[in-house]
Amino acid sequence: MRLVKCMTALLCAVQVCLATLAGATPLSITLPPETAVFKPSAMPGYALAQQKCSICHSADYINFQPPGMSLAQWTAEAGKMQHVYGAPISDREVSAIGAYLAVTYGSAKVNDADVQAASNAPAVADAKVDAKALLQNNACLSCHAIDHKVVGPAYRDVAAKYAKDPQAMDRLMSSIQHGGSGKWGDVPMPPFAQLSPDDLKSLATFILQQ
Ligand code: HEC
Ligand code: HEC
Repeated sequence: MRLVKCMTALLCAVQVCLATLAGATPLSITLPPETAVFKPSAMPGYALAQQKCSICHSADYINFQPPGMSLAQWTAEAGKMQHVYGAPISDREVSAIGAYLAVTYGSAKVNDADVQAASNAPAVADAKVDAKALLQNNACLSCHAIDHKVVGPAYRDVAAKYAKDPQAMDRLMSSIQHGGSGKWGDVPMPPFAQLSPDDLKSLATFILQQ
């Protein structure tokens, strides 16, 4: 008996809902603009989400997820974009974005220890530290300096040359990985095929910031 009541209530609710939808559709084809942008936050994942999560679809996809998702669920969602759909984001960025989404759209609290840990992997700051070590460890600095030509071009000149190139990151990652010649002179740049995509990205990011 209880079940039947329940079902009836549900069916009514569905009908009301459908009726509302049917009535509302012609009037509201465009969504309210505020659902198409990311909710602001002071967390590092906010800027990352704006950059990386609007490449393929709008922020509506995030708004339309069920409320109350946990840190693990949001991180898995961001990770799915990375692994399944090939979103160009590093593991660290997945963590930081997951933390921002879980706090801003889900059930996580900004002061939770796991949220703090996931969030405090600011990719840009880390990239700088990593990049300096990578430059040292790979002898880049035996041929390059920041502000003057050695064997290879000054990194500042490289940054200037590619400043307006939307593909700069990919081009530099590829140049470092495969080496090259003829772009700056006759001396070739040796390949660094052993560097991981994350290493290449840190180096290219660092060089472009000079
Ligand atoms: C390389 C392209 C790409 C990028 C970048 C991307 N997504 Fe997606 N996203 C997809 C595709 C493809 C789908 C599923 C296809 C569809 O339903 O339209 C999807 C669907 C979603 C959904 C709906 C639920 C689901 O799992 O299908 C959410 C939420 C989502 N994305 C969040 C994100 C977040 C958060 C980011 C940033 C970390 C992001 N997306 C970046 C391609 C991308
Ligand atoms: C043996 C000397 C040498 C070493 C070691 C070296 N480079 Fe180079 N690099 C060069 C030369 C020479 C060029 C100019 C090549 C050309 O003209 O295309 C160059 C060019 C570059 C460019 C510009 C590429 C472009 O597409 O315009 C970048 C970025 C770069 N190097 C980064 C690095 C990094 C990062 C490392 C270490 C992982 C490194 N280089 C190690 C000699 C070197």
